[in-house]
Amino acid sequence: MEKVKNKTRAPIDIDKGALTEFVPEKGKEVILSVRDLQIGFVTRGKKTHVLRNINLDVYKGETLAIVGESGSGKSVFTKTFTGMLDSNGFINSGSIMFDGMDLAQFKTDKDWLQIRGKRIATIFQDPMTSLNPLLTIGYQISEVLRIHHGLNKEEAKKEAIALLEKVKIPHAEERYKDYPFQYSGGMRQRVVIAIALACRPEILICDEPTTALDVTVQSQIIQLIKDLQKEYQWTTIFITHDLGVVANIADRIAVMYGGQIVEYGKVNEVFYHPAHPYTWALLCSLPQLGTKDEPLSYIKGNPPSFGKEIIGDAFAPRNEYAMNIDFVREPPAFKISETHWAKTWLLSPYAPKIKKPKVIEELHERMKAAAEELERQEGNLNVKKD
Ligand SMILES: Nc1ncnc2c1ncn2[C@@H]1O[C@H](COP(=O)(O)OP(=O)(O)O)[C@@H](O)[C@H]1O
Ligand SMILES: [Mg+2]
Repeated sequence: MEKVKNKTRAPIDIDKGALTEFVPEKGKEVILSVRDLQIGFVTRGKKTHVLRNINLDVYKGETLAIVGESGSGKSVFTKTFTGMLDSNGFINSGSIMFDGMDLAQFKTDKDWLQIRGKRIATIFQDPMTSLNPLLTIGYQISEVLRIHHGLNKEEAKKEAIALLEKVKIPHAEERYKDYPFQYSGGMRQRVVIAIALACRPEILICDEPTTALDVTVQSQIIQLIKDLQKEYQWTTIFITHDLGVVANIADRIAVMYGGQIVEYGKVNEVFYHPAHPYTWALLCSLPQLGTKDEPLSYIKGNPPSFGKEIIGDAFAPRNEYAMNIDFVREPPAFKISETHWAKTWLLSPYAPKIKKPKVIEELHERMKAAAEELERQEGNLNVKKD
């Protein structure tokens, strides 16, 4: 019998297994919901598209970590929640729902008056972006209390000192009269947290709040945010370029790359079952997960430039697992579980099975070893303290 040559294959459903709709987890209260958000900038008369097709739900009371290299769009994204996008930025399309309002439709400062600082507050990497160098620390906290809660001068001072104590500033009553330059970087960040506390926000955005601080101060500030969140019951959005920082604080992780969320899931899902090669690369470069005889891995190449249109998967040029399709077609979000998805063609049922990097294959053992090492170090620190 003659073989049929050039037999045309039935068209395949390339998006098989992809999410057609982003649905919040059952039983969770959504405090902020972002759908199909696109953000661009106009630079020298030319439009660039920086954030593309962002979908995200933030649940009430949780800590959501947004992780990604510098330039991936983390700050631009979260600045839209408080109307702080640079003046050449614009929301192209999409919605940001918060308490029945679409924040993407807000236009004027008057619109933002009830939200920014009050209901959604931000702590930035550099505390001096939020502090006035010419006014005393005490005055700056009292002022917020007088405006927000209508306290008189005496009441505001008393409450401000209580807040300084809450954020663990030693000798709060004396230090009330100091100026920001008399405080260390870590103490200034504590003051910014106190100011945020004064407004009782529902959402606290922490945009790399510890990046400029040394490691010990960094973990103290993270612990402080964690403790205060327990007491005040707010929702935290914690932004960092360091995946290692969030293992202990996040409930959920959104990994950002090239202006998109490429993987989103519960902390255990992202740490133990990462699916996007970019998340693998981030995990492989964590010093905590390396072994003594392995050179520390780093992500080669540069993040995409937003100057020209990104075609296909933005990570493809740096991705050693990239397939032909990655260079021509943007991957959809493939569902991994009810709470976990990733935008990579590797999850397509038609993709070949690949051998994952060694660190990823051995994640369980390496995470366990890293946790034991951390415990041992903390044990040593405690012994030293006593
Ligand atoms: N005012 C602006 N004008 C033009 N492009 C901008 C502006 N602000 C940010 N961008 C672009 O957005 C990208 C993401 O920035 P950003 O959100 O600050 O990154 P991240 O916080 O993840 O380090 C930058 O690499 C830059 O290309
Ligand atoms: Mg940033």
